[in-house]
Amino acid sequence: MRIHDKYFELFLSQDDIRQAVITMAESITRDYRGCELVCIVVLKGSFIFAADLVRAIELPCRVEFLSAKSYGSSMHSSGDVAIHVPDIDITGKHVVLIEDIVDTGLTLSVLKAALQNFHPASMEIAALISKPEMRKVQLHVQYVGIEIPPVFIVGYGLDYAEYGRNLPEIWALAEEH
Ligand code: IMP
Repeated sequence: MRIHDKYFELFLSQDDIRQAVITMAESITRDYRGCELVCIVVLKGSFIFAADLVRAIELPCRVEFLSAKSYGSSMHSSGDVAIHVPDIDITGKHVVLIEDIVDTGLTLSVLKAALQNFHPASMEIAALISKPEMRKVQLHVQYVGIEIPPVFIVGYGLDYAEYGRNLPEIWALAEEH
C-alpha cells in the first residue's frame, strides 16, 4: 500500500488492535472504580484509539481534548513539542492521558509537566503503541497496548504527512528493495 512516496505493509490487524484496546479498558475500569476520572485525548493521532477506548471503559468519565505536535511531516520526532493546553478543570481529579504512540517520550513528558500545574489527584498514561527502544526521556507508561520495535507505522489515527489516519489497521513502512 502506498502513501505519498512510501510503501507500507500490514503490521497489526483490526483484531490485534481490538484485543489490546479491550485489555487496556479492563485495567482502567478496574483501577479507577469510584474515582472522578478525566480522560484527556492527545490530538490528532489518538482520535480513533480514544473513541474505541472510552467506549470500552465501563465507568462514568469526562473526556477532554488537547493537541500536541512533534513530528511535522517527517518520519522522525523533531524534538520540538508544540502543545496547546486549554484550561481544563482537572484539579483534584484522576487523569488518564490517552496517546496513540509513545516514541521518544518527549511529547508526553512536556504535556505531563504542563498538566501538573493544574494539580490533578493523579495522572497516568494510556498508550496504544510503545516503541521502548526509541525513548530519549524516562517516562512511566501505566497502560501500554502493544510494544513494537522502532518501525514507522500508519493507520488507526496515525499518519504519514497527514495521510493514512483512516486506515482501520496499522501498517509499517516496508523495507526498501
Ligand atoms: P514522541 O514525542 O517522540 O514520543 O512522539 C509522539 C508522537 O510522534 C506521537 O503522538 C505521534 O504523533 C508521532 N509518532 C511517533 N511514532 C510514530 C509513527 O511510527 N507513526 C506516526 N506517528 C508517530
